Amino acid sequence: MSCLELSGVCYLMLEGWILTILVSVGVGSLLFMVALVILLRNNIHATMFWNEIVLEKITNFVMDQSKEQRILNSVSYNAVKGDPESVLDCIDNYCSQKEWAMNVGDEKGVILDKVVEEADPTIALEFGTYVGYSAIRIARLLKPNARLLTIEFNPEFASIAREIIEIAGLSEKITIIEGHSQDIIPQLREKYQVDKVDFVFLDHWKERYCPDTILLEECGYLKKGSILLADNIVYPGAPDFVKYIRSHKSFDCTNYPSHLEYMKVEDAMEKAVYMG
Ligand SMILES: C[S@@+](CC[C@H](N)C(=O)[O-])C[C@H]1O[C@@H](n2cnc3c(N)ncnc32)[C@H](O)[C@@H]1O
Repeated sequence: MSCLELSGVCYLMLEGWILTILVSVGVGSLLFMVALVILLRNNIHATMFWNEIVLEKITNFVMDQSKEQRILNSVSYNAVKGDPESVLDCIDNYCSQKEWAMNVGDEKGVILDKVVEEADPTIALEFGTYVGYSAIRIARLLKPNARLLTIEFNPEFASIAREIIEIAGLSEKITIIEGHSQDIIPQLREKYQVDKVDFVFLDHWKERYCPDTILLEECGYLKKGSILLADNIVYPGAPDFVKYIRSHKSFDCTNYPSHLEYMKVEDAMEKAVYMG
């Protein structure tokens, strides 16, 4: 075989190898994409990781603003000033169509509305304000002279919630308290003139549900008929809280099966009425 023929054979072999590598990479990428789509459609943890870590961080970087800022922009642009329903609709539309966010949402929001109406509170308390969605839901149902205190430890969220609540026209009814629930609860009497609470919405980090409920009892804020409502009992779940509250002789509990906000994933809320 001449030198020319040999280099021709080598060239053909190399071309074959390159083609094989390219086809393998193509098929591999396709299989990876299919596996990713299946995983994202069937596994809530993967979906949340994708939405909250991958997509959100990329969007934040590209737009140089946070998701919460984008929610505020959407409310400022689309909602009717002074109309709480239009603010709630605007947040629900944004979070179901554009970017998922951890508001209680429209489906569990109906349960929240019913329990607030049942409690008819004069003093309502919320743990976990985020951008103010549930605070607006609660406050729009309050009677005259009733108020909602809502606790949030993230200053950026607290400031955005303040603006959204202002747009909803409910600033007079809602006080946002910045800080950790465990630090604020013992100060409620002295600093915020709270003697007893009629209604508490627990919607902060789930490991705080149980210790903060105990703290509310220890500080003497619960009275006969005080109603606690806890979100996310199934996803992500608060098993120590559920065990505590259901085995406590002073609480009468009711479970409300529902779905995680803006998703088809199972979730539930738990109502606990303090019997004194
Ligand atoms: C699920 S979001 C609240 C959603 C809001 N309730 C709604 O439905 O519109 C939870 C919020 O609780 C806040 N948070 C978590 N643990 C907290 C704590 N110990 N004290 C105060 N805020 C807390 C987080 O920063 C987050 O904004």
